[in-house]
Amino acid sequence: MKFFVDTADLDEIREANDMGILDGVTTNPSLVKDEGNIEFHEHVYTICEIVDGDVSAEVTATDFDGMMEEAHTLAQVHENVVVKIPLIKDGIKALRALDEEEIPTNCTLCFSPNQALMVAKAGADYISPFIGRIDDIASDGMTVIEEIVQIYDNYDFDTEILAASVRHPTHVKRAALAGADVATMPFDTLMNLLEHPLTDRGLERFLADWEAYKEARKAEAGMSS
Ligand code: G3P
Repeated sequence: MKFFVDTADLDEIREANDMGILDGVTTNPSLVKDEGNIEFHEHVYTICEIVDGDVSAEVTATDFDGMMEEAHTLAQVHENVVVKIPLIKDGIKALRALDEEEIPTNCTLCFSPNQALMVAKAGADYISPFIGRIDDIASDGMTVIEEIVQIYDNYDFDTEILAASVRHPTHVKRAALAGADVATMPFDTLMNLLEHPLTDRGLERFLADWEAYKEARKAEAGMSS
């Protein structure tokens, strides 16, 4: 499974990248807004220079021509840019046209298997089902992931399933078990994947025992001199 970090915060992206396990970054207009007074395209370029992997940057037009124009500009920012397109009728047309131009795409705001089927037929590189937001309306985001995995397997679609709106480590584990190709998650969730109280307790014990071992060796050496 590929790990993407779902943020536009450069410090978080650098820290995740420094661990050597980061495969890419996803951004969206809300995450860009959180960064304050930045120039969008310059910021996307900076992210692409930090991470050696796919970096999703979203268009904000909702009509075909507008989406295509923004997609062309974004694709010129850096070779690692993946153009994020909303899952609407003109978005499907744009996905098909961008596929023909070999511009990589990530279709965002997916909430159902039928939407995902449409997106795969349009030739998108990634589909982003929003697990957390489906859970938020008292439905089951993970069932949507499982059903998309099965549908894509049935028809050998190449579109990669990018589990998005991931809110906690259990989402990551269940998306991995279901066979999602990628999980994109906030930086804090990525760090939480490392956490286990028995790891902390076990390390504390090993280090304490190591100190005791060294003390005992020192005492032994003192007695024999
Ligand atoms: O990037 C899209 C998605 O991951 C957003 O997540 O937590 O705002 O639903 P969230």
